[in-house]
Amino acid sequence: MVADHRFDYVVLGSGIAGLTFALNVAEKGSVAVITKKNRAESNTNYAQGGIACVTSTEDTFDLHVRDTLEAGAGLCREDVVRGIVEEGPERIKELIDLGMSFSERENGGHQELDLGKEGGHSKRRILHAKDITGREIEGALLTALALHPNIEMFENHAAIDLITRRKLGFTTDNRCLGVYVLDVKSGKVETFASQHVLLATGGCGKVYLYTTNPSIATGDGVAMAYRAGVPVANMEFIQFHPTCLFHPKARSFLISEAVRGEGGILRNSEGKPFMDGVHPLASLAPRDIVARAIDAELKRTGAECVYLDITHKSREFLENRFPAIYSKCLECGIDMALEPIPVVPAAHYQCGGVVTSPEGRTELPGLWAMGEVACTGLHGANRLASNSLLEALVVAHRAAEAVKKEKAPKKQKDIPPWQSGSAQDADELVVIYHNWREIRQLMWDYVGIVRTTKRLQRAASRLRSLGVEVQEYYWNYKMTCDLIELRNLVLVAELIVDSALSRHESRGLHFTLDYPETDTSSPPGDTLLKPE
Ligand code: FAD
Ligand code: SIN
Repeated sequence: MVADHRFDYVVLGSGIAGLTFALNVAEKGSVAVITKKNRAESNTNYAQGGIACVTSTEDTFDLHVRDTLEAGAGLCREDVVRGIVEEGPERIKELIDLGMSFSERENGGHQELDLGKEGGHSKRRILHAKDITGREIEGALLTALALHPNIEMFENHAAIDLITRRKLGFTTDNRCLGVYVLDVKSGKVETFASQHVLLATGGCGKVYLYTTNPSIATGDGVAMAYRAGVPVANMEFIQFHPTCLFHPKARSFLISEAVRGEGGILRNSEGKPFMDGVHPLASLAPRDIVARAIDAELKRTGAECVYLDITHKSREFLENRFPAIYSKCLECGIDMALEPIPVVPAAHYQCGGVVTSPEGRTELPGLWAMGEVACTGLHGANRLASNSLLEALVVAHRAAEAVKKEKAPKKQKDIPPWQSGSAQDADELVVIYHNWREIRQLMWDYVGIVRTTKRLQRAASRLRSLGVEVQEYYWNYKMTCDLIELRNLVLVAELIVDSALSRHESRGLHFTLDYPETDTSSPPGDTLLKPE
């Protein structure tokens, strides 16, 4: 069968990773960018704090490397960290050339970048556009992309599964050949054939009940890669951001760490700054430490939230530096210039993912992965704040350069259409929503900031039966985006739990009461999962 679409490059996802790759590769051939909702909807679009990059004369690559390694708790790959940190300034310059503008400030009569600070950073090194850095980056990339004649955007198209030679029954030269994609509006499943498929589908925050992530973050890339036989690593390291706004009107609104970078202090419900005795950097300690301290404080006091106090700064400063946060708080009846902001931790970032080389190559020829979906070794057991946009930018650029140099492999002519079997319209959508809610609630209750083996085992057992239920549902009913996401969520939840169960120590973001110490008896290792 001839595929419905054939492109030189198929990019899954329109966040910073996918768009950067598309823009850099388009001179060489036709590019399809496939994205689940509208083109801007991505984690990238919500990024607040900014991009970590050494640009100041008071900062050095060595310091950025050291801070990243320290946050990563012994699991970062130092060569990868150094490479990404050192390539940052060049990639940032390209982003600026493309139209991105970062906030500046006046210093002795001249303008310079206004560098922010976040947890775990020893220097001011975060380039930002006030507190809407992601929206500005996404806008700049999409504007550039719209002008490119070789790039076609497919909005409201959800990738279902990768097509590989092995899945088609060939026993040699396994390779990714394309992807099955649901056109969400028409309900039709289409075939996209390509010799190079790029996974840039972002993270999996939606696997948890409370998250800072938008609804696209359902772990689709990790699930698709795993089903295609590609290894994933370190899925136990889910980063919980310490300060998500606690308000019924804004369940997943982030209060940027940059607020603490400007002197914001975490206080408990009694008004005490509880981080002082916990870490020398107090409220600006690395995220894993702050999130755990908040968790402990909530359990100790029985309170529903803690408070972030930046009332010592002037209203004028807050309105100008944090316009989005300032107005969201006001919308919720909180005047951050006069009162502390109620906050709680929420799932924020997936540090593990599809195993790749530092240039985004996966084990499966023809499949590349980058951005939050990938695990390059940069983040180790805990990502340093604002290193993810940097990683996506650098690795997407490298991948584009690498793929352009590759000799074109032989085209696979015959790709079978999607088999929908006896699929019928689902008459009980309630089952999908119920299962979705159950997964997110059990992940929050049993696989959160502080874990135990017993709770993880309970989660594993329930997820196994949910997996079977979802699988039955999946084959009997017509494909919808919700069903695709539910199938991926349950698999990714299982991968997180299995990884957590196999790590018999506490390290970085993985903290378990059954193994509260870091294992120093042997060199630290990654948790690798690969389907049989
Ligand atoms: P994303 O930007 O998430 O893009 C994923 C894309 O894939 C989306 O277009 C989505 O629709 C698409 N997609 C997903 N599944 C499918 C599918 N099945 N089919 C088709 N398309 C699909 N990091 C920093 O470095 N600095 C920050 O200041 C910062 N602030 C943040 C604030 C918030 C609120 C959040 C949520 C994250 C923040 N992060 C920050 C993390 C950072 O934004 C992300 O890690 C990064 O943007 C990920 O980029 P990406 O391109 O890999 O994925
Ligand atoms: C933030 O602004 O606090 C988010 C930064 C990040 O996740 O890197």
